[in-house]
Amino acid sequence: MQLIDGKAIAQKINSESRQTVAWLTAQGHTPGLAVVLVGDDPASRAYVRSKDAMCKELGMYSVKKELPADVSQETLLALVRELNADPAIHGILVQSPPPAHIDERAVVETIDPRKDVDGFHPVNVAKVALGDADAFVPCTPLGCQRLLIESGIETCGAHIVVLGRSMIVGKPLALLLMQKGKGGDATVTVAHSRTRDLAAVCRSADILIAAIGKPQFVRENFVRDGAVVIDVGINRISDPTAKNGSRLVGDVAFDEVAPKCRAITPVPGGVGPMTIAMLMANTITSCKRFAGLA
Ligand code: GUN
Repeated sequence: MQLIDGKAIAQKINSESRQTVAWLTAQGHTPGLAVVLVGDDPASRAYVRSKDAMCKELGMYSVKKELPADVSQETLLALVRELNADPAIHGILVQSPPPAHIDERAVVETIDPRKDVDGFHPVNVAKVALGDADAFVPCTPLGCQRLLIESGIETCGAHIVVLGRSMIVGKPLALLLMQKGKGGDATVTVAHSRTRDLAAVCRSADILIAAIGKPQFVRENFVRDGAVVIDVGINRISDPTAKNGSRLVGDVAFDEVAPKCRAITPVPGGVGPMTIAMLMANTITSCKRFAGLA
């Protein structure tokens, strides 16, 4: 069984990014990312903090905007417009999910598609569906695909079951994996909570990608012997034996599934670090485009 070390692969990508940032900076173009957090959800706060920290680590410019949970839609949209107009900013990310009174769709549609490094704007969603090389591809799907490529796991002709149909992960990931070319050419099934005989469908996968957002949902009977399992889940569950009373687990019951796998990603240290690495890479791409260097 191969443990897919997402942390090590992300570090390799990040060190390439650091060199690219240094090269761009030497020419007067420092990639800049704005991360916007509305409210004080602890998980979102932690993600935003690590994105901001990674920017600094790579020598990028980073602004972190924290808005109170009761901020008005208009104030948030005004901030997005201000960031659209700021030439030092090449990527804008509004951490999802926002509080219930915010119309997330309107926020996403206000972001300049050329700065939409999350790949959530309808223009980029359409470009991904069209297979347009200009698309900003959402970071988690891009990270999953890159993890498979870097780990030498062949997707061409493979049956890949994507468990989960979210706009952030499942749906764009299915589109990526069925595209022609490297990291694509797969036969893709999208399964979800309403799929009939879900365990049997998952068991038919050569590669199973769990992105259903339910802690340890994928059990031993979901996985065929010799399958590859990619676990996108990040769930905090209570654990009285842990230092702070909780710990992170994926969407896969790792201990019972891992022995059956050819390869599997851990949580943490699998997909998570790849997502951030891809966000940095998308922001660098955006900077290059604005500078006329890509
Ligand atoms: N929430 C969970 N994943 C993401 C992501 O990739 N981008 C944003 N903006 N919010 C998220």
